[in-house]
Amino acid sequence: MTVDLTNVFHEIDADYENLKELLREAVAIQSVSGDPSKRDETIRMVHWMKDKLEKIGVSCELAALGNQTLEGKTVPLPPVLLGTLGTDTSKKTLLVYGHLDVQPAAKSDGWDTEPFELVEKDGKLFGRGSSDDKGPVLCWLHAIKAAQKNNIELPVNIKFCFEAMEESGSVGLPELLVREKNRFLAGVDFVCISDSYWLGTKKPCLTYGLRGICSFFVEVTGIKQDLHSGVFGGVIHEPLQDLMYVMSQLTTVDNRIRIPGLYEQVAPLSAAEEKTYDEIEFDVAEFRDSVGASHLPTEDKKTLLLRRWREPSLAFHGIEGAFYGPGEKTVIPSKVIGKFSIRIVPDMDPDQVNKMTIDYLNKVWKERGSPNVFKPRPGHSAKPWVVDVNDSNFMAGARAMKRVHNVEPDRIREGCSIPITLTFQELTGKSVLLLPLGAADDMAHSQNEKNNKWNYVEGVKTLLAYIMELGSA
Ligand code: BES
Ligand code: MN
Ligand code: MN
Repeated sequence: MTVDLTNVFHEIDADYENLKELLREAVAIQSVSGDPSKRDETIRMVHWMKDKLEKIGVSCELAALGNQTLEGKTVPLPPVLLGTLGTDTSKKTLLVYGHLDVQPAAKSDGWDTEPFELVEKDGKLFGRGSSDDKGPVLCWLHAIKAAQKNNIELPVNIKFCFEAMEESGSVGLPELLVREKNRFLAGVDFVCISDSYWLGTKKPCLTYGLRGICSFFVEVTGIKQDLHSGVFGGVIHEPLQDLMYVMSQLTTVDNRIRIPGLYEQVAPLSAAEEKTYDEIEFDVAEFRDSVGASHLPTEDKKTLLLRRWREPSLAFHGIEGAFYGPGEKTVIPSKVIGKFSIRIVPDMDPDQVNKMTIDYLNKVWKERGSPNVFKPRPGHSAKPWVVDVNDSNFMAGARAMKRVHNVEPDRIREGCSIPITLTFQELTGKSVLLLPLGAADDMAHSQNEKNNKWNYVEGVKTLLAYIMELGSA
């Protein structure tokens, strides 16, 4: 029997100020996992969430993960928050994953407002983590609260796994989950992760694929310290020049990867799969304008989506050791480390990609003929993830989207990576659904990250509808 949610939905709308207040509190906690000086805040965020879950009756435990060495300093890892709501053996069990940490942010990066102060403007809630991923995590909380307030019995037991190291590679979490396989993870029937975005700004979707990632570091050294470029320029083999040469050989101007053999590992595209792309609603011009580019390497809808979702891509992230501040500094840096990553898709294998990439870098280095010291090395890597979109978990997600938005959601893939998705799938043997709530232009990781007021509120309804739909899944 389907429970009528009309009144609850109205109440969720009416409860907006409370929803906003909670997000304001969460955003104000500077849980930047990548910054060791913010580790206390990151840990505080986990405790804050534990308190909120306990208030709605979730039994919580904190799984300790020990310490981590970051930039030469030993810092404690934030614990993982494991929660259980309901232990009725006649019901199925949903496991929810989300992350409480965020990417770094400073007003000086070019934000219009303070990143850790939630600001509502023109129907948008600006603040670091408002969309990635504090907003969606809080939607779970509100959804359950709304059900409780209206005496609606949840048709499933719910377990929660909230971590605070996702933006820094989920250190320690895979090992914890392996240890918990026969305890906390036992009896899980469905997994749901709300940590991705809609393809556009209007139409909801379900996500059935993620790319994996292989990160790389390329170090070049040659002199014992930075040197005055006037005094020494012209008689030095400069590490930065070497590095820029090597990095420039990795891609073409249209952003195709030049590593031989790489594209050959990509799973062939069947006619049936290609056809699914025809039906997807995607506005290339809106996408182009949203990133502020004048041109894109391709403006064909299908080609563009294929390149984002089911082809590898290579992105450059930065050069450690190179001068990057404002103004001029006439210096020759002594040691530079180039950083880039390759997003990978089925059937690419991280170990093989690492090997091919390092081999290619070494070949290019040989051609360069520099006497400097060259050390390329792989960083962390994660496999891609793609699943069937027709299982009962995805169908429940689709029905939930339809109840809230009155439209059948598109089935999409993502160019991004949530490596733990595959871990959950492998350890539980159950379906993992990615249920995105945020809009494509939320600007996660970037300046002026926001969550639309509308997406936030509808997100609460969607998660509640999904939980209820699992009752008949
Ligand atoms: N929420 C993102 C992943 C994401 C973004 C999925 C957009 C779908 C659409 C997550 O927090 C993230 O940033 N992941 C990292 C993982 C990396 C550090 C291994 C990413 O993709 O860069
Ligand atoms: Mn995220
Ligand atoms: Mn993120």
